[in-house]
Amino acid sequence: MERLVCVIIGYVCGLLQTGYLYGKWKHIDIRQHGSGNAGTTNTLRTLGWKAGMITFLGDFLKCVLAVWIVHILYSQAYPEELALLSMYAGMGAVLGHNYPFYLKFKGGKGIAATAGLIFATNPMMMLIAAIVFWVIVGITRYVSLGSLTIVVLFVVEVVVYGQRGGFGLSQAHLYEMYAIAVFLMLSAFYKHRANIKRLLNGTENKFGAKKKQED
Ligand code: G3P
Repeated sequence: MERLVCVIIGYVCGLLQTGYLYGKWKHIDIRQHGSGNAGTTNTLRTLGWKAGMITFLGDFLKCVLAVWIVHILYSQAYPEELALLSMYAGMGAVLGHNYPFYLKFKGGKGIAATAGLIFATNPMMMLIAAIVFWVIVGITRYVSLGSLTIVVLFVVEVVVYGQRGGFGLSQAHLYEMYAIAVFLMLSAFYKHRANIKRLLNGTENKFGAKKKQED
């Protein structure tokens, strides 16, 4: 039951669509511009750096907020399961971001929210993910490739850290953590399916380039 509560807390936090709301403030629906995604990259592409940074921070922090609420609620009752419950909250936040009911379930691709979960899980994991992300984007200028790489990296980090006893969880709980990390990875790949097609045929938008393509 507490797992479901955590997912719901996360989902509610994830509903705060920073890019969409920022776009509305600027009198546009961000989902009708650029790639059509209500996330950091498309907000930056369409409305500029400031909008992109605000979108990233908002989407990142809403996931951190969800984990923080879960910590307040459950740190007494389930201290040994807190890492797992936080993961459920993070998953809820990504789902709320990707599938907001009030926007007919058309939200973002969940990368900034996942970054928030990585940070909340372990700041060192986030640091490694951020370095890998920027190296890939720096070399290829494909943000989507950086995004896809860090969701794969997150799975690796969670498994390595978990197997070393970093979360202090039982093996059964660890498998649950791994399953959620894999689910988030698959969900990110699904959300990036148009990007993947474009990456494969060489037409993906490059970071900083003027060209814009619809999903
Ligand atoms: O996080 C989203 C990014 O990976 C791709 O965004 O707008 O180019 O589809 P976009």
